[in-house]
Amino acid sequence: MRRLVAAGVICLAAAATPAQAEDGYDLWLRYRPLDAAHGEALQRSAAAIVAPAEPSATLRAAVAELQAGVSGLSGRPMPIKSTATAGSLVIGTPRSSALIARLDLPLRWNNGGPWGPLWHDGYVIRSVELDGSRVTVIAANEDIGVLYGAFAWLRLAQTGGDLSDLDVTSTPSIGLRLLDHWDNLDGSVERGYAGASIWDWWRLPDYLDPRYTDYARANASIGINGAVLNNVNAQPEILTAPYLEKVAALAGVLRPYGIRVYLSVRFSAPIDIGGLTTADPLDAGVRAWWKTKVDEIYERIPDFGGFLVKADSEGQPGPQRYGRTHADGANVLAAALRPYGGVVFWRAFVYARNSPEDRVKQAYQEFVPLDGAFAENVILQVKNGPLDFQPREPFHPLFGAMPRTPLALELQITQEYLGFATHLAYLGMLFEEVLDADTYAKGAGSTVAHVVDGGVFGYGRTGIAGVANVGAARDWTGSPFAQANWYAFGRLAWDPELSAREIAAEWLAMTFSSDPKFLETALSIMLRSREAVVDYMTPLGLAHLMGTGHHYGPAPWVDDLERAEWTPYYYHRAAADGIGFDRTASGSNAVAQYAPPVAGRFADRATVPDEYLLWFHRVPWDYRLRSGRTLWEELVRHYDRGVAEVGAMQADWSTLEPFVDAERFAKTAHLLEIQAREARWWRDACLAYFSARSGLSLPPGVAEPEHSLEYYMSLRFPYAPGR
Ligand code: GCU
Repeated sequence: MRRLVAAGVICLAAAATPAQAEDGYDLWLRYRPLDAAHGEALQRSAAAIVAPAEPSATLRAAVAELQAGVSGLSGRPMPIKSTATAGSLVIGTPRSSALIARLDLPLRWNNGGPWGPLWHDGYVIRSVELDGSRVTVIAANEDIGVLYGAFAWLRLAQTGGDLSDLDVTSTPSIGLRLLDHWDNLDGSVERGYAGASIWDWWRLPDYLDPRYTDYARANASIGINGAVLNNVNAQPEILTAPYLEKVAALAGVLRPYGIRVYLSVRFSAPIDIGGLTTADPLDAGVRAWWKTKVDEIYERIPDFGGFLVKADSEGQPGPQRYGRTHADGANVLAAALRPYGGVVFWRAFVYARNSPEDRVKQAYQEFVPLDGAFAENVILQVKNGPLDFQPREPFHPLFGAMPRTPLALELQITQEYLGFATHLAYLGMLFEEVLDADTYAKGAGSTVAHVVDGGVFGYGRTGIAGVANVGAARDWTGSPFAQANWYAFGRLAWDPELSAREIAAEWLAMTFSSDPKFLETALSIMLRSREAVVDYMTPLGLAHLMGTGHHYGPAPWVDDLERAEWTPYYYHRAAADGIGFDRTASGSNAVAQYAPPVAGRFADRATVPDEYLLWFHRVPWDYRLRSGRTLWEELVRHYDRGVAEVGAMQADWSTLEPFVDAERFAKTAHLLEIQAREARWWRDACLAYFSARSGLSLPPGVAEPEHSLEYYMSLRFPYAPGR
């Protein structure tokens, strides 16, 4: 059972009218006035704020946020006071606040002794008696915990929670919670659909866009504590002195909000910018180069987080060019970072050029033999599934197979394969599905969440990364609802056991309205949305049917690219006798990479869940599924259902106009119109193609595709975004 977001959070407030137009810039931190009753209750619990006399930049950020939140929500300013009176908010750490030091709070503050990153970030929010007055304390071991606590308290206030009797203790389950930006130095964003990069490299370090601070606030509000600033397909110049100066300037803005900066590095940087003739990780000159480079970085950025590396993958250089292993490569960087406490996120997204091996098996084959060979400060970053961020994939078999190597989960927040920022697809459902997947690595309950949070194997370090969907678009993510995916990622990174449904409700209440009538319908739209995308794009375990390169729209017919595993045909293999990829023992035997209970379930056509059927099995068109329908009938039904769901989402959204400001209402309605058209396009093109391959016509009563297969095959999109 998934955990609720916090005791009694969604106590629904009456509607506050959506008076002014909103452009989405404020995200979930809008702080619009509550209804009178909630506003007064808020005022009673936040009549004044008592903060340490000499606050750090982080505590100042907490005070500013609380003041902005309370005055926005209640309509009355919250003054700063030096003594606590009834209704005060008292914030601080035992070190910075004598008041908090006097209270018996469940903090781990113990004479400066060490504790892990989790206690470092945790907080306590409690209603207590202090010198005869009822006050609320927001306390933590460290200032950053106070800031996280402030945002948590504001979340309660925004969602109509009861603020009068609080007892909340929260620590994150995962230590390193990062956004990975795939942003290039020319301002473009790989797989970005929300405009240009938010980093204005050209004008940094001199001009610090106020947006950087708002970005930091948004991330801190959901507990994100690291940002990889540049694309994994990294440009080497990021490590040159002028760029490091720019990075240092950004680090300075993000620091008060507890966000460390990390950089993606190109493995051949010693050659590209260092003047060496090799990047061989075992070469003494190369080791020395990395050490000197890292020294230079820490001189400028003392709390630099570390490196993210895509090596020997999709044309990126790596240690294998020199006959070395991924561990050799990662360890040379780790050695340079170690004295400073920096880490290496080494990516497991690898598959070889022209390998006859099933692509989805290759990362496991590459990395499992290296378990135990990585330095202590290397974390292997693994995508949720073994292919590439598809609308649905089974979990990656590396989860559960590397007991001696900390694995970080990499999720994609940007919707590369789920309709870009145009389609409404709430990814909380996808994230939750992955986190809940049981690897059975150590028996039942060894979920991906517990592998990643260190529970299963006792990893010394824990991490999770989301590929960011933010850009320079005024609303940050290119659509109002795509903001929810950023939000859900952060909330689940903090606590992977939270319910995606509850997170969606919380986000809706903060972002739009907490009117129960609005919430019910809007929540239902969100909860159905991801499955709708799966249905109209890649149902029943199909994958990677998207257009070549840009991944926009359907192109299941493509079968002739430079690399076979880049073609959709490689994955579905549709022909007269059936469709699907045999990954059982009679085929590639990818199932064998999972622990026996999982492998057994996936390997048997009778037990494999329908949603993974064609991922693991090649199935004749007339095969009968559990529903009693043939595979062909079921496939058609799923495509139809996906289209119908989008129609229903549109109809539902149209009823919400009274609750939503005009600008965001209209934008969402227009995007849903596009989504409806594109869902139909997906359905028609795929069914036309599969009908041609199978020789089967559509069942009676089912709508024929609007156009011929040739028409769909002729479409070209040379300027699709995100490349
Ligand atoms: C996908 C994506 C690329 C990206 C790659 C990666 O293949 O299409 O743009 O570089 O994943 O994760 O490295």
